Amino acid sequence: MPKRVVLTGFMGAGKSALGPRLAQQLGWDFIDLDDEIVRAEQRSIAQIFEAVGEDRFRALERNALAKALDLESVVLALGGGAIETAANRQLLQQDRETLLLYLEAPLEVLIERCEQQKLERNAVRRPVLEKRAELTERFQRRRPLYEMADWTIDTTGQTLDELVTVVVARWNEAPWNQPPER
Ligand code: S3P
Repeated sequence: MPKRVVLTGFMGAGKSALGPRLAQQLGWDFIDLDDEIVRAEQRSIAQIFEAVGEDRFRALERNALAKALDLESVVLALGGGAIETAANRQLLQQDRETLLLYLEAPLEVLIERCEQQKLERNAVRRPVLEKRAELTERFQRRRPLYEMADWTIDTTGQTLDELVTVVVARWNEAPWNQPPER
């Protein structure tokens, strides 16, 4: 049985929304990798990008992931770009106790959700989202990397409640929850 569930996918995939709900269902803790970085650095992701640049942010992200993967009974939401760092992919793939879930949706849907979040609540600023010209390229570059996940969950047109139900059902049907063969 996995000791960690890690959620990956582009911005707007629903990682930070599904994560706490899934953790609650499993009786586990929820960790948001971006929040860990913000807490450690005492400044927002946008401020980190502005002050030290994306490369430095990726290094902080890499360290935060390595630390988080030491924990057990946690659901961990990655930032959308964490999968682009080769060291992160290696950590995630070599770790047999981590179940990697890719929350999938088309780019138009993801952008629309991010825009909606900006309108509805005090959404965190996403510096990568603001670079619109590069967005399609980033999405296409990342897609095959996300697809290396253990499970791919299509989130298009699904409410949060529906998504929780889908993932929990799949978890309950997973091999580690089946009675041993006699
Ligand atoms: C990023 C996604 C963000 C955050 C940072 C960079 C990206 O996380 O890590 O702004 O490169 O896609 P979310 O996917 O939670 O928005």
